[in-house]
Amino acid sequence: MSSDQAVQDIVTPLENTTIASASDQKAEQIVDPWNVQGAIVDGKQLGIDYDRLIESFGTRKIEEALLNRMETLTGRKPHVLLRRGVFFSHRELSSILDRYEQKKPFYLYTGRGPSSDNMHLGHMVPFLFCQYLQEVFGCPLVIQLTDDEKFLFKPNLKLEDCIRFSKQNAKDIIACGFNPEKTFIFSDLLHVGGPFYHNVVRISRCITYSQSKSTFGFIESDNVGKSHFVCIQAAPSFSNSFPHIFGTRSDIPCLIPCAIDQDPYFRLTRDVAHKLKYPKPALIHAKFFPALQGPGTKMSASVDTSAIFMTDTATQIKNKINRHAFSGGGATMELHKEHGGKPEEDIPFQYLSFFLDDDEEIEEIEKNYRAGTLSTGDLKKRCIEVLQKFVGDFQKRKEAITDEVVEKYMTPRSMNIDLSA
Ligand code: TRP
Repeated sequence: MSSDQAVQDIVTPLENTTIASASDQKAEQIVDPWNVQGAIVDGKQLGIDYDRLIESFGTRKIEEALLNRMETLTGRKPHVLLRRGVFFSHRELSSILDRYEQKKPFYLYTGRGPSSDNMHLGHMVPFLFCQYLQEVFGCPLVIQLTDDEKFLFKPNLKLEDCIRFSKQNAKDIIACGFNPEKTFIFSDLLHVGGPFYHNVVRISRCITYSQSKSTFGFIESDNVGKSHFVCIQAAPSFSNSFPHIFGTRSDIPCLIPCAIDQDPYFRLTRDVAHKLKYPKPALIHAKFFPALQGPGTKMSASVDTSAIFMTDTATQIKNKINRHAFSGGGATMELHKEHGGKPEEDIPFQYLSFFLDDDEEIEEIEKNYRAGTLSTGDLKKRCIEVLQKFVGDFQKRKEAITDEVVEKYMTPRSMNIDLSA
């Protein structure tokens, strides 16, 4: 048993109560699957306090030793998103590494709620990371498109829109480079039934209305589908939901890469796993991809000026960074030279730390920006170059993805994996 298997799962209500009082302007940060907002202190919007989240959610920090173990086991340098601390927290990641070491099967599970056909940079983060994990582990990956979730939570969307977004988003996801032999992408609205649905009802019998309500903060007037939805997001965590991949085996665990706001779903899932005698899913959590306006909230597809979309042209990217990206630089050139900039508040710097692979260069940029010898303009310029290349390369890959390719990824099929161990 690995040391952190003993970590107790705490199923507690989310700490999402905003205690805003006009007098002291103090507010708690809010992090749940629908809202991400840093605290406001003395009228100043702060970034998300991730150490506090680890504490209140009861997860573990990803320490250097765990990264070293991953590197030794896989023979690969940890992914840039691990080296920069973007994936920063986990539940029982070492149990998955143990299985990799013992050559026992496991799989990856992630997902996306397709609320529009407009995917942005922030949406790419978990998928880029999953692509790397699938490559180093050589394991199957299932990707859930929760078009049913979006229908239940967004009253303006029609069912047909949600299904259409699923198929369109699948193209963007495939463009991240997943192995076609080992990746199954499914829309809930098109796929759910059979053994998958059997698990949904098993799960729903284990979760009470009051647990769901307090975990997610639902109120009496919310539709009943919302409080049931957790059962659908939990089901892919269990291997017998996918008989075409795992047959009737229910003992193959998964690792779920996700943004930390999805953790409440999987706290309940881990609780249920125990009751159903299924292995608990392991998790690896990412920080949010900050909005152009600053590190206090995440990039949002519904706020056009907060986001860089995967369909943006090179010129649009340049203009958005130059016009909207929050700067941690000095107010004037002189002040910047005198006092230096604050990379931790600077959006172009943060974006570079997600997308610039070269460790030496990013260290150099950070040092020079802090010292004031690198100007805000030059930092933005480098950020623009890196993002233009990333988005441009992505667009080229996406062009090659036809409806037939999407169909292949979305068809239930065997993956010929070795289940003997
Ligand atoms: N609820 C997620 C969203 O709105 C989608 C999702 C489903 C997901 N299953 C997941 C995300 C597993 C991460 C991991 O985006």
